[in-house]
Amino acid sequence: MFKLVDLEKSVTAILSSDLGIREKASEIRLLVQEMLTDTSFLMSCIDQAISNFEQYPNLRPHPPLFISMEHQFAVHLIYWPAGHKNSPHMHSTWGTTGVFFNEIVIETFNTAGNSENPELTIDNRFDAKRGEAGYLLPLCVHRVSNETNQPSASLHLFGTDDKNEPAQSSTVWYGDNVGMPGDSKARAMGIFCEMLISISGDQSKGLLIRVFALACNETKLRIVKGISERDIELSYQLSVALEQELVGSDRARLSAINQNLAQKIKGSIH
Ligand SMILES: [Fe+2]
Repeated sequence: MFKLVDLEKSVTAILSSDLGIREKASEIRLLVQEMLTDTSFLMSCIDQAISNFEQYPNLRPHPPLFISMEHQFAVHLIYWPAGHKNSPHMHSTWGTTGVFFNEIVIETFNTAGNSENPELTIDNRFDAKRGEAGYLLPLCVHRVSNETNQPSASLHLFGTDDKNEPAQSSTVWYGDNVGMPGDSKARAMGIFCEMLISISGDQSKGLLIRVFALACNETKLRIVKGISERDIELSYQLSVALEQELVGSDRARLSAINQNLAQKIKGSIH
């Protein structure tokens, strides 16, 4: 049973050791990989990400899940739209990346010629599935893509090159620093919904209620359906709340479903 705070403690211990930067990054990669298999850890990250969205709904980029001022690293979740590919770039610090949901592809590049505008050729390609992790050392040019038709999420730990801004590391882009299309909060909530629906227990139910409050209507409906077998009364309450947000024929349809549901719940109580 790991929590985000356990990642912080273990990374701090690794960064305080006498190991070289490659060994440290490699150890952190193994740690991230181990933690990504732990449901408690996943829920702890989701909990913190939801808190950030609740507290800073309009802040872009999103605040990290965690910043270690003392040891100068930050932990981020990034939500990749389906089919999105960013431009080749490099960071000035070490970084480890683990796949939190779905899958991502990381390509690394060889550089030749002018350092300002180098010629890039693909060196390696890593198809990373949920739970897998890797690390990159400073100045490795790379690109991340989501080649699937559903969103992906990745967990990142980055060192910093500016003691005053431990949540940032300098990045050099080759090509446009393309923004991600769509609403990242809606995308994040869709991802959390899919992950939490498959986790039983009260903690995941509590998180789903908070996801519901922040999600788009499509995800809200997914939550209503997803929890109907575990908790029909909660499903009904959320469905009634969703009905209030709909208009026209969608609202009428859900209203009819909710009335039927209310009868069923009443029947099962008496
Ligand atoms: Fe990167």
